[in-house]
Amino acid sequence: MPVRIAPSILAADFANLQAAMEQVSGADLIHVDVMDGHFVPNITVGLPVVKRLSQISPLPLDVHLMIDHPDRWAQDYALPGVETVVFHLEAATAPVRLAQVLHERQVKAGVAIKPSTAVSALSELIDHIDLVLVMSVEPGFGGQSFIEGSLAKLRQVHQLAAQVDHPIAVAVDGGLDCPRAVKCAQAGANVIISGTAIFKSPDPQSEVTAWRHAISGPTSGREL
Ligand code: DX5
Ligand code: ZN
Repeated sequence: MPVRIAPSILAADFANLQAAMEQVSGADLIHVDVMDGHFVPNITVGLPVVKRLSQISPLPLDVHLMIDHPDRWAQDYALPGVETVVFHLEAATAPVRLAQVLHERQVKAGVAIKPSTAVSALSELIDHIDLVLVMSVEPGFGGQSFIEGSLAKLRQVHQLAAQVDHPIAVAVDGGLDCPRAVKCAQAGANVIISGTAIFKSPDPQSEVTAWRHAISGPTSGREL
């Protein structure tokens, strides 16, 4: 699976998200963080905004739901233009059923785990999902520091995903800069999510290109 780059618009100018998405049109996905003020202590955007973004985005959306009760709400985000709806394992009541519902709605199903959640908690769900998102910071805010233990966790998820007979993307989210993105890709991540380092750089489009070259460059071979 090729490594894909997903800029997180959490770090973009919320007064002009259309321009922000155009600024990173050379990436692969746009990552949208939905936070409800309950599952995480922060509130961002909800369904009306995601719906509109899905209509105007130059790239498919990767919707990261940091909300309580995803069993009830996640299906509403299965919109044209949305590639994957990612819910948190810690918040879901019936995660296997939720993944099935998302598939019925024609989107990929992703599951995210917090830094404190063990990879073993995914064992029953892994056959039913298309993406595992490893949080490399505590969910809720951009601009935090990368938790180094996430690299070992990515290796574990990569191994788990290799045992399943359908392709599973492995995403990493939080605290990345370009050298860390390379390390994460070497550890098995193939969706690289970054807010601050991409959108706060002087030229987000060039930043995406630089990350892409660094990740696929001659010295970046896998070290699983
Ligand atoms: C944090 C979000 C991330 C956030 C990452 O809870 O899930 O997607 O945007 O931002 P940075 O790259 O700034 O850590
Ligand atoms: Zn996110």
